[in-house]
Amino acid sequence: MISKNMEKALNEQVNWEFYSSYFYLSMSSYFASSSLAGCANWMRVQAQEELFHAIKIYDYINERGGRAILEAIAKPPFEWKSPLHVFEEVMSHEQKVTGLINGLVNLAVDERDHATNNFLQWFVAEQVEEESSVASVMEKFKLIGKDKSGLFAIDLELAKRVFVPPAK
Ligand code: FEO
Repeated sequence: MISKNMEKALNEQVNWEFYSSYFYLSMSSYFASSSLAGCANWMRVQAQEELFHAIKIYDYINERGGRAILEAIAKPPFEWKSPLHVFEEVMSHEQKVTGLINGLVNLAVDERDHATNNFLQWFVAEQVEEESSVASVMEKFKLIGKDKSGLFAIDLELAKRVFVPPAK
């Protein structure tokens, strides 16, 4: 059984994860309308990962005797200045989410809720991977600057990303 406090905090994270999915799907649409199908694919996969995160926490709340409550999802932005600007926003969003996950771990530690702490460690590791993968895409965009053929090459590269549902 999780505490009411923990239930509320995890429910807030479910909303953040759904928002993250919305945010990245909006970016995917931006890229699709900019004829960058590979970038659009990368963001769509990112959105699918976020949905997986949301449902993973949702399931955990219900499994531990709490109740997942679905709140309204905020409208995400839909215009950006450049592909690099999009990825900069992804990075700052992921850094924000990392801070939220760390806050949840701190709460689990304070409450001596070892099961939730253990559950959250998956997200701790996931955030390291997410920040690193966004950083590597950002580096590529910085390297090419305004070079159109470089942009074409990156788009081809990002087209290869596929969503693989992580093992539960
Ligand atoms: Fe669910 Fe990208 O953090």
